[in-house]
Amino acid sequence: MVYQLSNPIVKSLITSLRDVNTDALRFKHIVMELSRFLVYEALKDIEMTPKVITTWKGEDTFASIKEEDIVFVTVLRAGMPMIEGLNNLFVSSPSGFLAMKRDEVTHKSKLYFDRVPDCKGKRVILVDPMVATGGSLCDAIELLKTKDPHSITTLNIIASPEGLSVVQKAYGDVDIYVAQIDKSLNDDKFILPGLGDAGDRSYNTL
Ligand code: PRP
Repeated sequence: MVYQLSNPIVKSLITSLRDVNTDALRFKHIVMELSRFLVYEALKDIEMTPKVITTWKGEDTFASIKEEDIVFVTVLRAGMPMIEGLNNLFVSSPSGFLAMKRDEVTHKSKLYFDRVPDCKGKRVILVDPMVATGGSLCDAIELLKTKDPHSITTLNIIASPEGLSVVQKAYGDVDIYVAQIDKSLNDDKFILPGLGDAGDRSYNTL
């Protein structure tokens, strides 16, 4: 299923991302914040486990998320601020990194780095700010599926309807949480109206 966030705070932050006058520092900060809104939605029904802790009145048991059972995986470069935001929230969850580069002529992504920890039986949350053709997300999901996770959920800031439909058709069992579904793709496979290239915007490589 595809879920789109509808909160006005999210819409307003997306507008700031689209603004070319938003500098790299603010851009990354917003991406980080949006990642938290996305994970807040994506994990709203997550099972909680009892945890014994020491309170000011002694030992007691409270509900807690088993962070060790969630693996966050990001796609470099643009996904870096997303995983930073999530690592600050889930301090005990392991993180994995994939590097892919989309060829600007063929529009196909190519994997060139895979550093993903053990995912067997775990809930994998894959983060990448952009879903344009959907090729990168499909490649990342395909690779993660070979690691035998319990489930895969993706968090994305901005997506084209075309890209989402490609991913949904290929992987109907993957839930996709998107902050903003935009209008379409242009002939160069850029999202419209979009926000440009999130990697370039984050790291001043325009
Ligand atoms: C962007 C983006 C996605 C991919 C989306 O990365 O972060 O990974 O393109 O495009 P697709 O849906 O058509 O595959 P890019 O290759 O520009 O690398 P970067 O993160 O280093 O900028």
